[in-house]
Amino acid sequence: MRGAARLGVLLLLALSTCAASTRLHGDALGVLGPLAAAVLLVVLVARRRGARARSTRFKGQVVWITGGGSGIGRALARRFAREGALVAISGRRADKLHAVHAELSAAGGRCCALPCDVTDEAQIIAAVRHLSRAHGRLDVVVANAGFCALGQVSELSAATWRRQLEVNLIGAAMTVRHALPWLEERGGRVVLMSSAAAFLGLPGGAAYGASKAALSLLGATLSVELRDQGVSCTTLHPGFVESEIDQVDNQGRFDARRVDRRPRGLMWTAEDAARPMIDAIYHRRRERAITGHARLAVALGRHLPGLGDRLLRAFGAHFSDDPHPELEERSDA
Ligand SMILES: NC(=O)c1ccc[n+]([C@@H]2O[C@H](COP(=O)([O-])OP(=O)(O)OC[C@H]3O[C@@H](n4cnc5c(N)ncnc54)[C@H](OP(=O)(O)O)[C@@H]3O)[C@@H](O)[C@H]2O)c1
Repeated sequence: MRGAARLGVLLLLALSTCAASTRLHGDALGVLGPLAAAVLLVVLVARRRGARARSTRFKGQVVWITGGGSGIGRALARRFAREGALVAISGRRADKLHAVHAELSAAGGRCCALPCDVTDEAQIIAAVRHLSRAHGRLDVVVANAGFCALGQVSELSAATWRRQLEVNLIGAAMTVRHALPWLEERGGRVVLMSSAAAFLGLPGGAAYGASKAALSLLGATLSVELRDQGVSCTTLHPGFVESEIDQVDNQGRFDARRVDRRPRGLMWTAEDAARPMIDAIYHRRRERAITGHARLAVALGRHLPGLGDRLLRAFGAHFSDDPHPELEERSDA
């Protein structure tokens, strides 16, 4: 309210300057100059106020991000910490978590590293218990942990299908399930990291796309189920974003020898992707596609799937089912 009053005073000042200047010069230039300066001033003040408000949006809140040691999860951790949250990051590789922990702490952020494999429900329960004991609250859970199994349907083994769904779908569902009692106490936020791949049938990406399509439906269901408890669910659909995802094999293991073959021209940095993500989370948006090509994929998949198929065929778009010939073994077992 005080800010609005200040803006009002600024506007009044600008208008009276305009009036004085018109009397002095008696022509249009006399009005336009001060008016433009006044509008610029008001815009600058409003932007500064917006930036200041953004920097404290999650102040005092506890945010848990699975898969927070790299890629999108790490970028979200940085941004949540900058916005005042205490950020708990999980994953299987402790060294990755400790590196993010050290970075955020050095920057003055509050962070805790919680190793946790989302395919092990007991580890999820232990992580939530630790968070609730140590901090007494949980405001946001970001079910972000995931990987991308590649291969044509004719080649994918049952073990690979199971692994893909265990991590991307059931891992996320269990993360949310055990976090929910705490989120309900404060009208918290659930975030699911789905993908634009949930909307188009990219050859070579059936297991990944199916896991993300199911995750998106989980998000839609949670949005309805949790409404009465005051908990929101935001499902995010990123397109290509810089991360380690293309260096992870079908076993779900990071392999530094693998080369990221995704189209560089379409790729967003994880930091750029995290900004609209966190806005959508803050405003409790039901869903949000991140990157222009992701928005196109979602629109085509929803409204013009036949055209989507034709475009995929015309451009030969696919998740390569043999993307790393430099490696000896195919790891689809
Ligand atoms: N980057 C993109 O272009 C893109 C596009 C659409 C959707 N997404 C989604 O975004 C999410 C994050 O991926 P990213 O792109 O940032 O790739 P990333 O850098 O490989 O991050 C994935 C994270 O998930 C963690 N993880 C994997 N399996 C896990 C498990 N069983 N338990 C706990 N943590 C596990 C990994 O850590 P550990 O290996 O240490 O466990 C890693 O930190 C994924 O769900 C992905 O599907 C990414």
